[in-house]
Amino acid sequence: MKAIYQRRSIRKFTKDPIENTLLMECIKAGMNAPSAGNQMPWEFIVIDQRELLNAIMNIHPHSAMLSTATVAVLIGGDLSKETRQGYWMQDCAACTQNILLAATSLGLATVWLGVYPRQDRVEGLRKLFHLPEHIIPFSLVPIGHAAEEKAPNDKFFPERIHRNGW
Ligand SMILES: Cc1cc2nc3c(=O)[nH]c(=O)nc-3n(C[C@H](O)[C@H](O)[C@H](O)COP(=O)(O)O)c2cc1C
Repeated sequence: MKAIYQRRSIRKFTKDPIENTLLMECIKAGMNAPSAGNQMPWEFIVIDQRELLNAIMNIHPHSAMLSTATVAVLIGGDLSKETRQGYWMQDCAACTQNILLAATSLGLATVWLGVYPRQDRVEGLRKLFHLPEHIIPFSLVPIGHAAEEKAPNDKFFPERIHRNGW
């Protein structure tokens, strides 16, 4: 519960790199997400080369925070692993959220950058990372140490809860 409410989108990172073991913890949490029929249609690219992080900023219009990030994870959907057609993006969303929550609970900062279904971002990232056709870039998550503070979330709207029908 603490991680759910404390997680905020952080867009300023310190220069301190994160330990690889923590990064792997986050990705491991992503791989433990639920998926349709347990198809686990995800693949990950760890990006820690400055030139590549800079290149993403030319492709993704809302990714300026990468200028301060030391690492980002690209979550991709693998269509060749699909056994339940049409669910891969929901699976990848659950995976992405697990990564955000795991990072928060480890004291790290993240922000979810949407890629799919924006075709210009999908094609730009496909080219940059030489992705084969069956891998669809879904989201990008910079992970680092926060250089800004944000208050915990409070977004409860009880009027949106309907009981036994609309
Ligand atoms: C599907 C999705 C796409 C998003 N894309 C971006 C993005 O491209 N750039 C960005 O800075 N934040 C992006 N965000 C983060 C949202 O802006 C953020 O979650 C929202 O403003 C709520 O703030 P919070 O995460 O601090 O609660 C995205 C979030 C989601 C779930």
